[in-house]
Amino acid sequence: MSEYQKQYQWAEQQPEAFWQEQSKQIDWFEAPKTILEKDENGIERWFPDGVMNTAWLALDYHCEQGRGDNTALIYDSPVTGIKQTYSYVELRDRVAKIAGMLAKQGVTKGDRVVIYMPMIPEAAMAMLACARLGAIHSVVFGGFAPNELAVRIEDAEPKVIMTASCGIEINKVLPYKPLVDKAIMDSRWKPEKVFVLQRPQCEAELSQKRDLNWAEEYQNSLPHGCVPVLATDPLYILYTSGTTGKPKGVVRDNGGHAVAMKYSMKAVYDMPTDGVFWAASDVGWVVGHSYIVYAPLIHGCTSILFEGKPVRTPDPGAFWRVCEEYKVRVLFSAPTAFRAIKKEDPDAVELKKYNLDSLKSIFMAGERLDPPTLEWVESHAEKPVIDHWWQTETGWAISSNPVGIEPMPVKAGSSTKPSPGFKVEILNELGEPVGANQQGFVSLKRPLPPSCLTTVWRNHDRYESGYLSQFEGYYVSGDGGYLDEDGYLFIMGRVDDVINVAGHRLSTGEMEEIVGGHPAIAECAVVGVHDDLKGQLPLGLVVLKDGVKVDSDQLETELVGKVRQEIGAVACFKHALVVERLPKTRSGKILRRVIRQIADGKTYTVPSTIDDPTSLSEIEKVLHTN
Ligand code: COA
Ligand code: AMP
Repeated sequence: MSEYQKQYQWAEQQPEAFWQEQSKQIDWFEAPKTILEKDENGIERWFPDGVMNTAWLALDYHCEQGRGDNTALIYDSPVTGIKQTYSYVELRDRVAKIAGMLAKQGVTKGDRVVIYMPMIPEAAMAMLACARLGAIHSVVFGGFAPNELAVRIEDAEPKVIMTASCGIEINKVLPYKPLVDKAIMDSRWKPEKVFVLQRPQCEAELSQKRDLNWAEEYQNSLPHGCVPVLATDPLYILYTSGTTGKPKGVVRDNGGHAVAMKYSMKAVYDMPTDGVFWAASDVGWVVGHSYIVYAPLIHGCTSILFEGKPVRTPDPGAFWRVCEEYKVRVLFSAPTAFRAIKKEDPDAVELKKYNLDSLKSIFMAGERLDPPTLEWVESHAEKPVIDHWWQTETGWAISSNPVGIEPMPVKAGSSTKPSPGFKVEILNELGEPVGANQQGFVSLKRPLPPSCLTTVWRNHDRYESGYLSQFEGYYVSGDGGYLDEDGYLFIMGRVDDVINVAGHRLSTGEMEEIVGGHPAIAECAVVGVHDDLKGQLPLGLVVLKDGVKVDSDQLETELVGKVRQEIGAVACFKHALVVERLPKTRSGKILRRVIRQIADGKTYTVPSTIDDPTSLSEIEKVLHTN
């Protein structure tokens, strides 16, 4: 039996013994005696009586072990020209002072703190400072508009918000403070204080009574120690797009998360405890939470926080430059990033300028890794390129090529095999397992391994109805796909109204709510259509109210502006076309899948349930003349 099979079967047949063994890799204040237990909602919880602190594991523990001078964090910011490194001791001391600064404002265990920050070291420090206090952070991606921030503030009810005066995108400085002020104004929940870190590129006016100058508060604060928490206490809430306008607050616990982070660094990424790990993502996404901040630090690695883009900061050699400069061992990003590099540097001229000897493998996730991108990166970088599949909800790879256990041959289009602990099954609409190579709902048999969400913040019914109730005993991932005859997993795309734009997860349902709110519009459909660079882009089809006369270009401009204003530029909603009617089933359900197939120029079968087949030819005409 192969090593992978051994580990997989152990985790499958004796999950408690397997995860108890993995739990010994972290430094508990009180080691758990109970490994797995159902909570009052009937949800399996890991290590319920274990006592620990995640910031301790990420920082203090390494200092105690005599590794305090090792580099914990490297900040590389091509948009400002700053490069900075922090040892474990330096990072611990800064985090302890930021924790003190929060404690001075009354933040204690269980309080929520919203963090709305660009990719600067203080964003990671703020997260760790919350962890230190046992406070629950909720990081909101800086590309989201005030409305999205307001929705999250209202749901999480934070005591304080931590922000910076501005973010810096390619060739533009984006003031954050006015966005935060607007979000607080629009939210029914008002935080008591807002810490603002002033950046020299654009200083914010601290005009509100609640505003605090981060630097001054930091100066006057006293370091705070690590507050012991239960393994089951929440570490963070991370909102992610669902099928409606209201994002879901995925709740991550402390103990299971720390154990899974530690385990994954070796099993999934084959990282030694002192290697350099670079997740080129953003702290606003789950990849940033898990693999910029928590996992590399818990494992004792050096993590890179990069404030730049794969291209135009300043050129498509940026990724390779960082890999050479810091001797990166594992690089992790989204396929879109590499498609952007390939577009600007098709022959990889930039790549050839750098020495990539230290780089052992390149991991990709966030969207399907299309075979041409896989081949391009593999052939030019001459490194193993590994597609792995995961979700905000799990916090780590559900399936991967487990190079740290035993590398397996790559099959293009597949994210290889389930990680030990994840029991992946493909189910049909009745919840029955299907055979090899047959597509269905990609589902995970319970119990889920450590780190997976245990509830949706203050809305447990949504967890049950959105994930658990469709098939008893299973978590339904929302992705469709199949397992082949060798047990390789192929993820084929979402089966719901979620799309992935440049590796960013967005809800078309939410866009429909915004577009449908325009006074001229009777009904609409927003679907994700194929895009060579960003994987998918949203496209709106709108039906006007009877008697309404509008200029379609003007309407499109208004709708594009509305989505940008309410969700943010990151939604990339650029097109809205007027149609006479939408294709529907006889029961009135819009046939979004068929619309998507038509827009992508794919062959499609006319569903037998369609109300009026001629509606499809009308759509075809509009889509192909635009
Ligand atoms: N703060 C504010 N605005 C942001 C932002 C942020 N953190 N991130 C993106 N935006 C804005 C951009 O400025 C852009 O605005 P514009 O329409 O005014 O130009 C818009 O949102 C779209 O951004 P993006 O999709 O990133 O497009 P881009 O053309 O700027 O860059 C890529 C294209 C491919 C380089 C970029 O999308 C990328 O690096 N993708 C990888 C994503 C990734 O790492 N995902 C994490 C999963 S692992
Ligand atoms: P997020 O929660 O933002 O990480 O997005 C999770 C979703 O992204 C998944 O449900 C998938 O639809 C998609 N996704 C992530 N990784 C992959 C992958 N390797 N292959 C295909 N789809 C992926």
